[in-house]
Amino acid sequence: MKLKRRQLFKQIKSFSLGYLTLPLAQINQQYTLTPQQIEGPFYPVNFPLDDDNDLTWINDRKNQALGEKIIISGKLLTQEHQPISAAKVEIWQACASGRYNHPYDPNQAPIDPNFQGWGWTTTRQDGSYLFKTVKPGGYPVTGSWKRPPHIHFKVTLPRQKELITQLYFSEEKTLNETDKILQRIPIHQQPLVITNLIKNESLKMRIGEFNIVI
Ligand SMILES: [Fe+2]
Repeated sequence: MKLKRRQLFKQIKSFSLGYLTLPLAQINQQYTLTPQQIEGPFYPVNFPLDDDNDLTWINDRKNQALGEKIIISGKLLTQEHQPISAAKVEIWQACASGRYNHPYDPNQAPIDPNFQGWGWTTTRQDGSYLFKTVKPGGYPVTGSWKRPPHIHFKVTLPRQKELITQLYFSEEKTLNETDKILQRIPIHQQPLVITNLIKNESLKMRIGEFNIVI
């Protein structure tokens, strides 16, 4: 049964806070801004009918998305450590095989019709957000360059320039180190956009934390 947004958050919240993994770098007591990265060519042109923060089910479909189900959650913060509520957070990504639900994706990997591919949520009073999704597959760009698994993020706030970035996984070290997009970020800032998936025994899923500073 698909969990609606409020239910999903409520369930996960009671298990959270034991998995803080991503250090927020500080310079003179200020958090470092989350590095911007390119939007890439696969932001949806056709938005799915189901647009919530659980990308593993589409409405009332019988089958769930393929691949490992994971939780990505964190907080949206200012450099002065203040939570930012009511911001729109969007994610989009390839399915477990590495294919986007996008007409211009040249990847021949099979598309997963039960994967939502894009979703959005709003940050809560304490700046927190949460998505349930699948771990994306990597995909080829050129003969010698394969993109590591990653999730695209767009954060929109009124009267402020949007933040667009991408989140990577620490366990994909080899692909991360050769990725032409991740490697545009100075090496000391790369940990700000790389999450460590940690198994949560109660949820029987791995959870990755991603705090965003804007
Ligand atoms: Fe991508």
